[in-house]
Amino acid sequence: MGRLLASWILVRTYQPYLLLYFVICFSLFVYFCVGIWPESPSFRDNDMGGVPCRWNGVCQEGEEFNISNCNRKIIGARWYFKGYEAEFGKLNTSGRVEFLSPRDVVGHGTHTSSIAAGALIQNASFKGLAQGLARGGAPASRLAMYKVCWSTGGCSSADLLAAFDDAISDGVDVLSISLGSSTPLSSYVEDVLAIGSFHAVANGITVVCSAGNSGPFSQTVSNTAPWIITVAASTIDRAFPTAFTLGNNLTFVGQALYTGNHVEKLYPIVYGEDIASTDSDEDKARSCDVDSLNATLARGKVVLCFQSWLQRSPSVALASIMGAKGVGLIFAQLPTKDVAISSGIPCVQVDITVGTSVLIYMTTTRNPVVRFSLTKTTLGRQISPEVAFFSSQGPSSLSPSVLKPDIAAPGVNILASWSPASSLVPDVGQKQLPSLDFKIDSGTSMSCPHISGIVALIKSIHPDWSPAAIKSALVTTASVKDEYGGQSAVAEGAPHKQADPFDFGGGNVIPNKAADPGLIYDIEILDHTYFLCSMGYNDSAVSLMTRHQTVCDRETSWSQADLNLPSISIPELKKSLTVWRTVTNVGPVMSLYTARVEAPPGVIVVVEPAILSFNSTANKLKFKVTLHSILEVQGTYTFGSLSWEDGVHVVRIPLIVRPVIDDFYAET
Ligand SMILES: *[C@@H]1O[C@H](CO)[C@@H](O)[C@H](O)[C@H]1NC(C)=O
Ligand SMILES: *[C@@H]1O[C@H](CO)[C@@H](O)[C@H](O)[C@H]1NC(C)=O
Ligand SMILES: *[C@@H]1O[C@H](CO)[C@@H](O)[C@H](O)[C@H]1NC(C)=O
Ligand SMILES: *[C@@H]1O[C@H](CO)[C@@H](O)[C@H](O)[C@H]1NC(C)=O
Ligand SMILES: *[C@@H]1O[C@H](CO)[C@@H](O)[C@H](O)[C@H]1NC(C)=O
Ligand SMILES: *[C@@H]1O[C@H](CO)[C@@H](O)[C@H](O)[C@H]1NC(C)=O
Ligand SMILES: *[C@@H]1O[C@H](CO)[C@@H](O)[C@H](O)[C@H]1NC(C)=O
Repeated sequence: MGRLLASWILVRTYQPYLLLYFVICFSLFVYFCVGIWPESPSFRDNDMGGVPCRWNGVCQEGEEFNISNCNRKIIGARWYFKGYEAEFGKLNTSGRVEFLSPRDVVGHGTHTSSIAAGALIQNASFKGLAQGLARGGAPASRLAMYKVCWSTGGCSSADLLAAFDDAISDGVDVLSISLGSSTPLSSYVEDVLAIGSFHAVANGITVVCSAGNSGPFSQTVSNTAPWIITVAASTIDRAFPTAFTLGNNLTFVGQALYTGNHVEKLYPIVYGEDIASTDSDEDKARSCDVDSLNATLARGKVVLCFQSWLQRSPSVALASIMGAKGVGLIFAQLPTKDVAISSGIPCVQVDITVGTSVLIYMTTTRNPVVRFSLTKTTLGRQISPEVAFFSSQGPSSLSPSVLKPDIAAPGVNILASWSPASSLVPDVGQKQLPSLDFKIDSGTSMSCPHISGIVALIKSIHPDWSPAAIKSALVTTASVKDEYGGQSAVAEGAPHKQADPFDFGGGNVIPNKAADPGLIYDIEILDHTYFLCSMGYNDSAVSLMTRHQTVCDRETSWSQADLNLPSISIPELKKSLTVWRTVTNVGPVMSLYTARVEAPPGVIVVVEPAILSFNSTANKLKFKVTLHSILEVQGTYTFGSLSWEDGVHVVRIPLIVRPVIDDFYAET
């Protein structure tokens, strides 16, 4: 049975925050994307049954969008702008394209919705690249679109809350929210995504959110409420190798998405720093920052640029070079597999070693030249998954005892449907792009709907599972190994160390295993209320949040560490601490599980009891985990795991501990 799925599009109100170029790079469309392109073949309703009668949603008409744009696939569509207008002033659609309707003018909403629930499309591709069968994670699911953000720049909290209310009463099963804010995070009682998702979860609706694109830095993760599933992004095994040959016949391979005609011809190549415009400094020109190049000197040439701390985006360099009538870009950067779209001219991304070799060739040759080859698509030839460079990392800056992100899913170079109208929007920096039906894009916006689709599938197998049970199933069955050598998965941001729970929570999602997890760590909504009390929020704030008159019991100490999450995170372990967990058997009634612990270095872990015996009367069992630090200095986070094993299932949760000492502040 297909499930209902609501998709929010999204956005990011991520403010530029120090090194955060990714906002520009991935969402040139920074502007918050929204809506859906209903004519996309991803949203055809062939072979779908009638709309379930429990659905209460509507197809709200508007500009270029009427009731015939909804079908048995897109069963609901609404749009919200009253809050926007109250907050930001009248929506001015002249000069910038925007539809006062659920229609997507940016592409982001169409992309994310088709990833979650798109129908099968034969021979989909981005101009011939990544060609093949495209399909969403749960192609039999229905979609409802709640457009809450506008290409003119923003989304208002009031609109978001109104959309949550409607989605809950419309009867959605899953909310997929590829949007968020950057640090510093608002408290849970003030963050509309936390508030709205609290109500959704209280109504049995699973809420899946992006972790954010502010990696690879610690404490950057957003959407950290414990009732949300927070999704990191990982790479896949598809690559887009693109070769170029220098005048000395040396050939290098980088990555690009180039299918145009500046190939197999020799072009002169220059270094950005050597063609700085007079009013720009060499530093900016080296990274080909905005307006840094002398157009006379760049015209007709390929430019070599090196990423800098301030200018980290190949897309920005590409725009500078195209503006100066250059004919190509070789962009040397920290290793990352997400590829920028280049349409007019080739943009090949290489690592700094290759960039340096090219530069040495250029400085030792009188007339350096380069010849590009076309991009190829390869499958199964690069190790994966790795956590994406840009994926925001834990620990949560708001509640480090709640592990975030929860899980990783594919979010790099994802092909999905797009809005052909996006070429009309002047501000999205894609002027050079023709109108596209499919596009390759990267971000935690793309990984989030992968999980949403999987949640929809799990819900159809286990319709009675709570959002916490579904999250537990995903987290405890995730993989911490790559799919090839069986090595520990790595993170692009720190490529020579293994990925840890702050990169990807439980690990990379394994959908089939999540359908049969053996045991689950379930949570009732009342426990989330205790959690809110433990955050120190006052009774009126907690009552507003839960919409129940709540009096927090501030005498008995309820420990955040005891929230029954599928992880144990102790941000301050002084000597020792005991935490409790309860597991519910969802596998064979008679099951015997044994604990296996990989203790975090520097920590002794004892699990009691070490054997759990389930039967028809004992279906939920409690156990305690005692963690004891053997360090006598202020420590850093260390990682381990606890697995319950019955010979068939491995129910694994991460252990995250930072040992601290009481007298760190004392003078020695
Ligand atoms: C919806 O819009 C389309 C295209 O403008 C039009 O052909 C169709 O008649 C409209 N349908 C309804 C029910 O208004
Ligand atoms: C709307 O935007 C256009 C173009 O950006 C501008 O010329 C016009 O003054 C704006 N109108 C209002 C009412 O702000
Ligand atoms: C598949 O798509 C490619 C590129 O869009 C096109 O050239 C080709 O003819 C298509 N093949 C089929 C079988 O439709
Ligand atoms: C590069 O290869 C071409 C074709 O094989 C050859 O003609 C040319 O002399 C070579 N150039 C150098 C610098 O080796
Ligand atoms: C660009 O370089 C040319 C040639 O060196 C020079 O004449 C011109 O003034 C430069 N223009 C700018 C804007 O720097
Ligand atoms: C309770 O907390 C909220 C949110 O932090 C705050 O706005 C409000 O003033 C507080 N109320 C009282 C009575 O302290
Ligand atoms: C189930 O297990 C519990 C505790 O392990 C035990 O007390 C109880 O007798 C068992 N019940 C059955 C029906 O085996």
